Amino acid sequence: MDLKKLFGYENKNVVITGAASGMSKSACELLLELGANVYAIDINPIDLPVKKSYQADLGKKEEIDRVIKDLPETIDALFLCHAIAGFKGKELEVELVNFFGQKYMTEELLPRITYHGSISFISSVGGFGYEQNYKTCLEVINIKDWDTAVNWYQNHPDIIANSYVFAKQCMNTYVTNKCMDNAFISRKIRINAICPGYTITGLSDDFNKSSSATGNAEEGKEMIENMFINGWNGYAAEPKDMGYPLVVLGSNICSYMSGECIYIDHGLTSSWKDKSLLN
Ligand SMILES: NC(=O)c1ccc[n+]([C@@H]2O[C@H](COP(=O)([O-])OP(=O)(O)OC[C@H]3O[C@@H](n4cnc5c(N)ncnc54)[C@H](O)[C@@H]3O)[C@@H](O)[C@H]2O)c1
Repeated sequence: MDLKKLFGYENKNVVITGAASGMSKSACELLLELGANVYAIDINPIDLPVKKSYQADLGKKEEIDRVIKDLPETIDALFLCHAIAGFKGKELEVELVNFFGQKYMTEELLPRITYHGSISFISSVGGFGYEQNYKTCLEVINIKDWDTAVNWYQNHPDIIANSYVFAKQCMNTYVTNKCMDNAFISRKIRINAICPGYTITGLSDDFNKSSSATGNAEEGKEMIENMFINGWNGYAAEPKDMGYPLVVLGSNICSYMSGECIYIDHGLTSSWKDKSLLN
C-alpha cells in the first residue's frame, strides 16, 4: 500500500496556522513528509521548508485579510491551530485569536475549500463540557462580522472572564453546529477538532503563569499538574502526540468523519465523564 496515497496530501494545497511551534509545527513536518504544498502562517517566523510562509497576527482582521488575499485559489485541507493563554486583562484578545479569528478565516476561505476537503481545529480539554454552554456559544457563532463580535464580547465580560475555556467551548460548538450546515455539507466538507490534554509546548510557560492568581509559574504548574496529571499518575504529552493525529484527521483516512471533537488526553476526560455518569 502506498502510504502517501492513503493520506492523500501529495501535491495538495494545505493551509496551517500556528506552525512556528508546538503541535502545529509537528503537524507541518508530517504534512511536508507526505508531500503537501504547505502554506503556513504564524505571528512568529516559521523555520520549515514550506511552499510559502506568512508572518501575521491572526487576532487582527486586517492581518487575516492580507494573508487570505495571497493564499491559493483552492485549498484541500485547512488546519487552524494557533492560540494564546488566557491571561486576565487580555480576554478580548484571547477570544479573537483563539476563536473568532479562526471562525472568520474558516468562513472567508470556505469557497476555496475543495469538494470533500477538510477543516480541522485544535481545541482543548479546556472546552470539555461545552454542551452546557452551547446556546451561549451559538450566539457568538451566529455573529457574521468582526465589529459585532467585538461588541458582543465587550458587552459580556462575565462570560469571557474564563477566556481560554470559553473560546474552546465556542470552537467545539462550531464543529458540532456546522458539520451539517449546507455551506459545508453541500460540498461534503468535513469539519472536526482535536481536544488535546496537557502537552509541553511553547505555550506551557504561559499556561502555568495564567493559571496562578499571582502569575507565579511554579504555582500554576502545580495546579495544572494536579488537574491533568497527578490523578492518573500520568505524564505530559509531546507536540507530535497531537500534531500527528491532527494530520490523520484532516486526511483521506478519515474521509467519513465529520462533526467530531476528539479528546486526546489518555482517557482523562472519559474518566471525568465516568464519574459524572455514576453520580
Ligand atoms: N500545550 C497544551 O497543553 C495544550 C493543551 C490543549 C490545547 N492546546 C492547543 O494547542 C494549540 C497549539 O498550541 P501549542 O500548545 O502547540 O503551543 P505553541 O505556543 O507551541 O504553538 C502555538 C503557535 O501559535 C502562534 N500564535 C499565537 N498567537 C498567534 C497569533 N495571534 N497569530 C498567529 N499565530 C499565533 C504562536 O506563535 C505559536 O507558534 C493551541 O490551539 C492550544 O490552545 C494546547
